[in-house]
Amino acid sequence: MENDDDRLTDADALDEAEDMAEQTIRPKTFDQYLGQEKAKKELEVYIKAAKQRQQTLDHVLLYGPPGLGKTTLAMIIANEMGVNIHTTTGPSIEKSGDLVAVLDELEPGDVLFIDEIHRMPRAIEEVLYSAMEDFYIDIIVGQGTESRSLHHELVPYTLIGATTTSGKLSAPLRDRFGIDIHMEYYSEEELSKIVFRTAGVLKINVDEEGAHEIARRSRGTPRIANRLLKRVRDFAQVAGKDMIDYDIAESALNQLQVDDAGLDRLDRRILSMMIELYSGGPLGIKVIAANIGEDQETIESVYEPYLMQKGFLKRTARGRIVTKKGYEHLGYAYPEKKE
Ligand SMILES: Nc1ncnc2c1ncn2[C@@H]1O[C@H](COP(=O)(O)OP(=O)(O)OP(=O)(O)O)[C@@H](O)[C@H]1O
Ligand SMILES: [Mg+2]
Repeated sequence: MENDDDRLTDADALDEAEDMAEQTIRPKTFDQYLGQEKAKKELEVYIKAAKQRQQTLDHVLLYGPPGLGKTTLAMIIANEMGVNIHTTTGPSIEKSGDLVAVLDELEPGDVLFIDEIHRMPRAIEEVLYSAMEDFYIDIIVGQGTESRSLHHELVPYTLIGATTTSGKLSAPLRDRFGIDIHMEYYSEEELSKIVFRTAGVLKINVDEEGAHEIARRSRGTPRIANRLLKRVRDFAQVAGKDMIDYDIAESALNQLQVDDAGLDRLDRRILSMMIELYSGGPLGIKVIAANIGEDQETIESVYEPYLMQKGFLKRTARGRIVTKKGYEHLGYAYPEKKE
């Protein structure tokens, strides 16, 4: 994934120090996991039922843009089931042997978490079908006429897959997940609570209005809320303030170029490029990606969903268009003949 610089509202980029801090602020239980009420309620039922039957939990697929809490949720599920979680990613499983190796490490009932499961090679995906459905893998050994198939039994386990680009997952794979969870952007109220919770863990003083201003500009994303909180704290500290209030939050966020709709520079660049070069569209995703110099997947999974949720961008059969609201947000006059 390409980053032009250390973008604050990039929910993806994490350096090691931040990774450490992530561990301390990451919720460990459903009670600490704020928001996503629908997903939480559903999962609590399935977990309780599986535990009552003393069975493993059905496989779970988590959809959602980066930083909404998929990894966190997978860890909480394992925690609530009282089992261990093993973590890997789609692109790191290159050969069927890699898959067998991770599956063989599992104890009965354990969770295998595969992040970015949509980026798993298609051949591996096919091996996964029987591994999910009937807990076995047929391994082909030898070559040509010498080759034969070895039947390899697995322990029962729960696969949790996470994906940011839902459309890219093949239907046969999707169908093998019994539980389908769509993560939603968080409301400002939920993000305010998350900001308060994180501030508590990190011993940062923030008042109601300060927390709300950070929440409002966090693109509905907990990871961004936490990151902006930390950066605003730096501004407050240097300004000699021991409390993050509205004023310091507002001026810090402006300096960080996060606007009052939570858009960062790249969000704004996408919209202004579309307006200035293409009269607001319709535009294909490839053209957008090429003009911005970001890869298509990032645009589709990170930027587009938020711009659409905000009502600045719309998807039509002919391509993406900037809406009237989008024009106005960036301070352009909307050519009324457009719609
Ligand atoms: N519901 C929540 N309540 C409180 N904090 C949360 C919640 N969800 C996520 N967070 C915080 O946001 C951070 C990012 O969450 P997480 O790593 O689970 O996102 P993700 O969806 O797995 O992202 P990616 O797609 O980039 O892997 C976590 O460290 C956690 O502190
Ligand atoms: Mg994750």
